[in-house]
Amino acid sequence: MDLEGLSDIAVAVLDALSTRRSIGRLKPDCPDRHLIERVIQAATFAPNHRHTQPWRFLVLAGDARSHGGEVLARSLVRRLADPETPSSVEALRTERAKFLRAPVIVVVAVEPSTEPNVTLDEEIASGAAGVQNLLLAAHALGLAAVWRTGDSVRDEVVPTEFGFAKSSVIIGYVYLGYLDPGHTVKPRPSRLPSEITTRWEGWT
Ligand SMILES: Cc1cc2nc3c(=O)[nH]c(=O)nc-3n(C[C@H](O)[C@H](O)[C@H](O)COP(=O)(O)O)c2cc1C
Repeated sequence: MDLEGLSDIAVAVLDALSTRRSIGRLKPDCPDRHLIERVIQAATFAPNHRHTQPWRFLVLAGDARSHGGEVLARSLVRRLADPETPSSVEALRTERAKFLRAPVIVVVAVEPSTEPNVTLDEEIASGAAGVQNLLLAAHALGLAAVWRTGDSVRDEVVPTEFGFAKSSVIIGYVYLGYLDPGHTVKPRPSRLPSEITTRWEGWT
């Protein structure tokens, strides 16, 4: 698309959308808390049906990341047939250390509303829109981020272990920090052509 003639804000928004990437290789330096507050605020500007605002955030830094890793490890223990085998012990060690890959981890949950006209799908869709806002705000503020999930998000015990309401659904772990300068971000995998993704009807 030709960006000529567009307002500065239109160019900035479209540029942010097209240049945001998932980046998992981060420096250990912890961003200022105010920056993290801004990206979480951006998440809360997402559309949400009937103003339910279903998103909830747990922001981990420092040692709290290790405590979060223990939640992931306990979840893995529940899935392992035998947690004592050497491969299980190694897998648990990896799981425990996962949140140490970034200086800040935002655990994002959706606490579904009991509003009769709002479905769980809508609440999760809204939470996902919030995560995308968060990622874009992080990108705009010079932070690098990646949205990760994994089997623990399907573990019914995990939301309460992270201190969310029992009815909550974990929709992701956002790893946040600054890009490790030694890391080259690979080109974005190509997107499907519009002939596959889009049908146009009623257009001349
Ligand atoms: C719901 C969801 C779950 C994801 N889980 C993971 C994950 O567990 N690990 C990971 O490295 N990336 C994860 N990603 C990030 C995708 O791998 C990434 O968005 C995709 O490769 C496209 O790259 P881009 O974001 O740079 O365009 C997830 C993305 C979404 C939307």
